[in-house]
Amino acid sequence: MRKLLVGSMGLVALLCAASALFAGPQVVAPGEPWLDDRGQQIQAHGGGMLLWKGTYYWFGEDRSPSNSPDKRYVACYSSKDLVHWKFRRQVLALTDPEHLGPHWILERPKVFANARTGKFVLYAHLDDGSYKLARVAVAVSDRIDGEYRYLRSFRPLDEESRDIGQFIDDDGAAYLIFESRPTKGFFIAKLSDDYLSVEKKVSFIQAPLEGGAVVHYGGLYYVAGSHMTGWRPNPNVYATAPSLSGPWTEFKDIAPPETNTYGAQSSMLLKIAGSKKTTVIFMGDIWRPKELWDSRYLWMPLEIEGGALHLPPPRKWELNVKTGETALGP
Ligand code: DGJ
Repeated sequence: MRKLLVGSMGLVALLCAASALFAGPQVVAPGEPWLDDRGQQIQAHGGGMLLWKGTYYWFGEDRSPSNSPDKRYVACYSSKDLVHWKFRRQVLALTDPEHLGPHWILERPKVFANARTGKFVLYAHLDDGSYKLARVAVAVSDRIDGEYRYLRSFRPLDEESRDIGQFIDDDGAAYLIFESRPTKGFFIAKLSDDYLSVEKKVSFIQAPLEGGAVVHYGGLYYVAGSHMTGWRPNPNVYATAPSLSGPWTEFKDIAPPETNTYGAQSSMLLKIAGSKKTTVIFMGDIWRPKELWDSRYLWMPLEIEGGALHLPPPRKWELNVKTGETALGP
């Protein structure tokens, strides 16, 4: 009897330890190395996010030092809780598709799921080493985690396009956000029915910003972006509008300007509509230009009230994706 009791207590302890290992505390630690299920630093820089059949898929620039210097890579990770990430694969390992030379650029990949065609469509900023080409690259896949097949590149709405962002509205409509330097602003444009091209301009926002990100929250649209200082951080800003087509308010700082957005640059505003609360997460990159693979992530829940948005100082925080609730550390 005693043996049985000790044995079952041991089993319970083992199960508890295993569940702690697999469920883990749902803690996000901004700025710290974020490891995937293999124990490697997540390579999803300048990334985008897709919620597909109850699982989150995080796509981004894979800057692993072991990558071939001739190719550009996009990695994909999946998670149920937005904290623990499983490496799926390098969904794109592309060789200079438009003969742009050894320093060609593929940045800020975003993936959209097209319900009508069943295809997954990847957009990325495609450029030559001097950022003069200013086009988007489009690749497709039948599976969310690739491999993606390069289709073509183009300038959306015939405009120069550098940093891109993605936005999927509550009605499922998909939009590409792209920065266009000659116009000194950025566009929010609706994708075509098959998502393979950009159909029409929805908004042009006259503000020379990049890292554009949009979220629809509490009946208002919020757009956030950074100023153009290369890899160096700057005070990111936001504006609001009652509709995606505007009119947009003046831009305001998302954090005290002297913090330079705590060293981060906007890449996405991710809305978690939980059973108890809707939370918007600021997804930012803390770039390390000399070692891009070691760039970090600053994810924090935003404080949004009365049309004002505020990025709190980074600290560890917990997230419950089911309820949408968050708890900030000290
Ligand atoms: C800022 C952009 O947001 C990044 O994606 C990258 O293009 C750097 N500039 C390059 O300097």
